[in-house]
Amino acid sequence: MRRHRLIVGNWKMHKTIPEAVDFLGQLTELLTRGEYEPSTGVKVVIAPPFTALSAVAAALGTLPFLLGAQDLHWEDQGAFTGEISGGMLADIGCRYVIVGHSERRRYFGDTDGIVQKKAAAALRHGLHPIVCIGESLDQRLSGQTEHLLSTQLTESLAAVSKEQAQDVVIAYEPVWAIGSGHPATPEQAHDAHRHIRTLLIALWGEDAGERVPILYGGSVVPENTRNLLVTPYIDGALVGGACLNPVLFAKILAVAGSLN
Ligand code: PGA
Repeated sequence: MRRHRLIVGNWKMHKTIPEAVDFLGQLTELLTRGEYEPSTGVKVVIAPPFTALSAVAAALGTLPFLLGAQDLHWEDQGAFTGEISGGMLADIGCRYVIVGHSERRRYFGDTDGIVQKKAAAALRHGLHPIVCIGESLDQRLSGQTEHLLSTQLTESLAAVSKEQAQDVVIAYEPVWAIGSGHPATPEQAHDAHRHIRTLLIALWGEDAGERVPILYGGSVVPENTRNLLVTPYIDGALVGGACLNPVLFAKILAVAGSLN
């Protein structure tokens, strides 16, 4: 089955509002010079920090990009100081939300159980959860990658029904590849993505399981985008560092667009 390509830019804790607006201005200029054809079937999501969401929504102008957030709380409202709900994100125009990023798991204690509740909350508010899973270097070296991916995936998705599956995105992000300059090889990514696809089909059946896009994330740059995206089972990319630079992000989009 041919799934559309999806490129997600995760800004993490970067860019003030003026920086965000400046970035969008530069990106628009680069893209409208013809390096990127929005009609190529590549969906693009930008996930700025919460504080820049509305400025980015406004600055997108004619770019057909969608807005994403980097996290949400699992409750709809209440006494949760400092948190943001799915309803608030939908309200500001978000369509996607990243859940279970390894930085959330590592620094903020997000467990698979919490990711499960966050994915469910996203779906309740009409948001596409981008559920991140991935092994550490130790886990890879000790041969636990497949087992770890199975556990993370099944626990994180336990509250998602087969009918809701079409709204879910999975991101395979090996922890050792994130921000390291050492991406997974296309072979390593292929094997992990194939395993994830098998798990999704086991969970939701052939039809629903085939529909879910699986993104690769971890040191994606323009130079490796092609080799990763032409790899079977890889439907797109979750980009961190390189998405902060308009030239690099435009190049990644151009490569992704040229493959369709
Ligand atoms: P990176 O980050 O592209 O900087 O490795 C990816 C991510 O954390 O989503």
